Amino acid sequence: MKQLAGKTAVVTGAASGMGLAFAEAFAAQGMNVVMSDVESGPLAVEAARIGQRADVLSMVVDVSKLDQVEAMRDATLERFGAAHVLCNNAGVGGGGDVAECPIDMWEWVLNVDLWGVIYGCKTFLAGMLEQGEGHIVNTASICGQLAFGGNAPYNVAKFGVVALSETIAEEVAGTGVSVSCLCPGFVATRIIESRRNLPEDMAAQQAEPTAEELAIREAILEQFAQRKPPSEVADLVVNAIKDDQFWIFTDDHFQPRMAERADAIQLGAGRPMIGRMADAFFE
Ligand SMILES: NC(=O)c1ccc[n+]([C@@H]2O[C@H](COP(=O)([O-])OP(=O)(O)OC[C@H]3O[C@@H](n4cnc5c(N)ncnc54)[C@H](O)[C@@H]3O)[C@@H](O)[C@H]2O)c1
Repeated sequence: MKQLAGKTAVVTGAASGMGLAFAEAFAAQGMNVVMSDVESGPLAVEAARIGQRADVLSMVVDVSKLDQVEAMRDATLERFGAAHVLCNNAGVGGGGDVAECPIDMWEWVLNVDLWGVIYGCKTFLAGMLEQGEGHIVNTASICGQLAFGGNAPYNVAKFGVVALSETIAEEVAGTGVSVSCLCPGFVATRIIESRRNLPEDMAAQQAEPTAEELAIREAILEQFAQRKPPSEVADLVVNAIKDDQFWIFTDDHFQPRMAERADAIQLGAGRPMIGRMADAFFE
């Protein structure tokens, strides 16, 4: 989609991190922006700020609830008449080993990170096909390419987002609608603090973190603060929409491991070990 000015972009998880940077970048391109998030306070602040230079519709939307995603589509059409770009960006980090990870953690992460993206695609795609124009950016992760140990629900959700995006690419070819799959490495956002978005019943059951857990979390937060700024990812996304580019990687740090994996698949050989998520943060 070469021309973005005057068109409408919908961004989920737009109150923080990459989603906020996407909203800023789309506003800078002269687009109308629908900003949605579960966190009403930060959303109101950021939407008011971006609203000073673009037409912004802000909505509290939990992407794991189909009726709320549908309401976002309806409000978008009512306000702007069409949705041209959809960024299924909202996501939470939640991990654990398969043998230990509680089922409610699986459900939360899959509901937000996979079902949220399925709901977004399902809800907006028909309208885009009807108007013969549209671009969906699904946020997966490098964890949708490499299954690190200790990160089971997140890996499964993000591999699912990759599969969904590749499927859509097959289905929309030649329609004027296209799709990108964003696979960030580590980006300086609040993803490590995702537990702020835990459903109330789960939050109430969380044990207080031990001193050791707190120290590890602090160290990871320090690592993340030094990673790529979200604004640079937003530039990649805007260019991918304009150039109709499917894959968006934010850096090449993990490419050798992806190549090793692809080689092993091609040869039908043993699976190369890629390590544990907790160690990858510190590479
Ligand atoms: N930061 C990274 O290193 C990294 C790497 C790979 C992939 N990602 C993915 O990038 C996306 C954006 O995350 P981020 O890194 O900017 O983190 P972030 O925590 O800064 O932003 C995520 C946003 O999603 C919102 N959100 C959470 N649950 C929601 C729900 N149920 N409905 C609607 N909004 C919800 C949060 O309130 C927050 O504003 C996520 O899908 C994440 O999995 C991040």
